[in-house]
Formats: sequence, structure tokens, C-alpha cells
Amino acid sequence: MSQTASTGYDAHLRVWRGDAEAGDLADFTVEVNEGEVVLDVIHRLQATQAPDLAVRWNCKAGKCGSCSAEIDGRPRLMCMTRMSLFDPAQTITITPLRTFPVVRDLVTDVEFNYEKAREIPAFVPPEDLGPGEYRMRQEDVERSQEFRKCIECFLCQDVCHVVRDHEENKEAFAGPRFLMRMAELDMHPLDDAERAGLDRKRAVREDHGLGYCNITKCCTEVCPESIKITDNALIPMKERAADRAYDPLVWLGNKIRRRGRGD
Ligand code: SF4
Ligand code: SF4
Ligand code: FES
Repeated sequence: MSQTASTGYDAHLRVWRGDAEAGDLADFTVEVNEGEVVLDVIHRLQATQAPDLAVRWNCKAGKCGSCSAEIDGRPRLMCMTRMSLFDPAQTITITPLRTFPVVRDLVTDVEFNYEKAREIPAFVPPEDLGPGEYRMRQEDVERSQEFRKCIECFLCQDVCHVVRDHEENKEAFAGPRFLMRMAELDMHPLDDAERAGLDRKRAVREDHGLGYCNITKCCTEVCPESIKITDNALIPMKERAADRAYDPLVWLGNKIRRRGRGD
């Protein structure tokens, strides 16, 4: 620390520099002023010492989900991580999200997530219901609202060990953000998936790898929107999907319903 805390100090940063081919950590000393966040310091580093440093950001308000990175190994939003969290004497290591391929420096290619999003069929509105003809229960509204707070920062996707340590699982596993999206749709009282020939419970199990999730809750721990991904989406979805698959009464009910429809 070169100056007093009230006027600022010099932070020791170790920042990953490189591209898809090769890279390494590079050491920098950068001025920090009171009240700043990691993204401020990265911007100062860009402005004063490393003009070609690649970093993705947009809102600087924790709302666009662009500035995701790993700070001392923990997935975080750079714009919402205060420098005051760290001891001024320590070296802070900033690396790109490990689960996705690096484009350059702190920027990763998060296309994996968009592919998974495209695989989930959209909400199916009921056929014969006009606007204003259905009153949702408050608890249904609140459930959806919690999931809809997602800013698609993909920190949960990054931290989940199912894909973080096992590239080979990426094809079969959608990741917490998208398992949550499927749960949101399946729990929606107006989603008429059957009308569109969709079985969301089967799909989440068989096509999107819900069974890979062993409820470690790491995704919930890193979510900047404090969404209870595991407790409110993944565990209930596991119960719903298991009911459908293994409960003999549910199985019988479905069979009778299908027979009634003649299929
Ligand atoms: S709770 Fe499931 S989805 Fe979340 S990080 Fe753990 S294994 Fe991944
Ligand atoms: S659920 Fe949370 S951690 Fe995951 S993408 Fe959305 S906001 Fe980010
Ligand atoms: S810059 Fe938008 S979330 Fe950080």
C-alpha cells in the first residue's frame, strides 16, 4: 500500500492475459480510490497500462450480466465487487470464467448458454383464454418473479461442477440457469405445454440432464440476484419430474387420461 486508505492506495493485481491459444497471469499495480469496485480498477488498468486488455461490460450496475469473471477463483460480477472486500496488501487475481472458452483476456465465449436457451420451447399460452380472463394466485406470480430476476450473467453456469470440470457433460446438461427456466415454465399455471405436444418433465430429465445435479447449491451461492436456484427451482423440479416418472398413481392417472383422449 503506497498511500493512505482515505486518498487511495495501489492494489496488486494479477490478471489473466491471452487468447484461445495461450495465456498467462500478468502482474500490475493499479491505483484504487475510495468506494471503487473491481471494474473501476480494471478500467484504470486499461486506461493507464494495458490499453489492449479485453473486458466485457455494459451497465456497471449489476444488471446486464456482462462483466462476469473469477476474482480469486470465485465467480463474481466485477462491477458489484467492492475493492474494500480485499485487504489492500493482498494480490487480487482476476481470471476469465473457467467453464467457457476464452476469446481474449477476460472475455469468454458464452455461446454454450445461448444454445441451451434455444433448446427450451417457449411458454405455450392456453388456447381459449382471453386477456384478463385468468387471475393468477399471488404465490404463482412471486415464484415466476423470482426466476425472472435472472440477468443471465452465467456465474451459476460457470461454477456448476457438472460442466466446470467435465467438458464432456456440456452436451447433456443444460446447467442451473436453464434447468431453472424449465422449472419456471413447468410450474406456470397457464403453460399449456401438452397442447403443443411437449412433456417438460420428461425433457428436463432426459434431454437436459436434471439428474446430473446433485444439489450442491454452488449455483445459488454465486447468484448476484440471490435467486434460490436450488431450493426454489431445481429441488422442486426434481420432485415434479420424479413424481411423473416413478409415482404409480401419477402413472395410472396419465394412462387413464391418455386413454380418454384416445392416444
Ligand atoms: S446445485 Fe446442481 S446445478 Fe447447482 S451447482 Fe450444484 S450440481 Fe450444479
Ligand atoms: S440465475 Fe443468477 S447466477 Fe445464474 S445467470 Fe441468472 S442471475 Fe446469473
Ligand atoms: S457491467 Fe453490467 S452487470 Fe456488471
